[in-house]
Amino acid sequence: MSKNQAFGRREFLKTAAAAAGVAGLPNLAFAQGAKIKIGLMLPYTGTYAQLGVAITNGFKLAVEESGGKLGGREIEYFTVDDESDPSKATDNTNKLVTRDKVDVLVGTVHSGVAMGMVKIARETGTLLIIPNAGSDAATGALCAPNIFRTSFTNWQPAYPMGKVLADRGIKKVVTLTWKYGAGEESINGFKEGFIKAGGTIMKELYLPFPNVEFQSLLTEIASIKPDAVFVFFAGGGGAKLIKDWQAAGLKGKIGLYGAGFLTDGILDAVGDAAEGLETTLHYGDGIETPKNKTFRLNYAKTFKLQPDVYAVQGYDAGLLLAAGLKVVSGDISKKKELYAAMEKAKIDSPRGVWTMSKSHNPVQDIYLRKVVGKENKVTGVAHKALADPARGCKMG
Ligand code: PHB
Repeated sequence: MSKNQAFGRREFLKTAAAAAGVAGLPNLAFAQGAKIKIGLMLPYTGTYAQLGVAITNGFKLAVEESGGKLGGREIEYFTVDDESDPSKATDNTNKLVTRDKVDVLVGTVHSGVAMGMVKIARETGTLLIIPNAGSDAATGALCAPNIFRTSFTNWQPAYPMGKVLADRGIKKVVTLTWKYGAGEESINGFKEGFIKAGGTIMKELYLPFPNVEFQSLLTEIASIKPDAVFVFFAGGGGAKLIKDWQAAGLKGKIGLYGAGFLTDGILDAVGDAAEGLETTLHYGDGIETPKNKTFRLNYAKTFKLQPDVYAVQGYDAGLLLAAGLKVVSGDISKKKELYAAMEKAKIDSPRGVWTMSKSHNPVQDIYLRKVVGKENKVTGVAHKALADPARGCKMG
């Protein structure tokens, strides 16, 4: 065969493989053993940078544990730093979908950025696995057969804290968060549970994302004198709030509670300022599940870092994709069978076994946790097997 003929054949196969995807012909890329292209779109800079790293590590650990392959096929990673910037979300997602032609999108942390990814996933039919962003709409009004989440909705970990506080006789609460989707939805979840259990919201305070100038807000809180404050913050912003709260003399005077993102992944950075803080979340460091111990050991050994909830969610995204691709033996073009397998998967997660709701969000236990030393220690179950209400989801 001449050089030209060889080139021609390769070109033909490439074109035929591309056409097969559209025309439903046998999947040639699959037949030729091509790698599965995974697009990781996560924050690697800014206040959520550490969260993006933990998710990436967790995902790659799951792939390594299944022999570096999924459904028998090798993996190729494409990575984009989304900077937690919603205004760049469309361009960044298109880099992966249009330029790199990934088979699967994995991302992201920030709800506003995730909305851009959801839009493109819905338009192009690309499989999207969300390993953090809690935007209620992603598995609510905008739910879709090709959109799955391995983390939570913003409503989910916040809602149970309302009853926990009201049952303790805490009746007057001020809320504080960044003014964007995740913060607002988390506060709404808390309010729903709290008001139902007899509580009253005295004031809702906000600052723009990712601003961390808390001083005037803390002065205002001191003058309102609520029974407690419920917050949504995460990453570097959460660490800063915890330190400022102590420096302002509020620690020990007014109870500080939040969705558990507040204290996850930052305990080394904040020292004793976090001691005793109570939060609700779907994971706790020392949780006694069959998987947690080995997961924590393997993660620490591989990355020389302690895992947190974000690492768990990334790991579970890898487990979910592995479970789906196993059933179709790596043929990602068999979308119907792939999605059916992902819907049915029972994920043996470090957080405990969880299943997928009809809207493609985890049905999971929400734990009450308390910071003891460098650990988010589980002290109880705030809500057993909690499913998001998935308001507005019509799976077509
Ligand atoms: C979100 O934007 O949905 C978000 C970000 C960080 C978290 C949790 C939720 O820790």
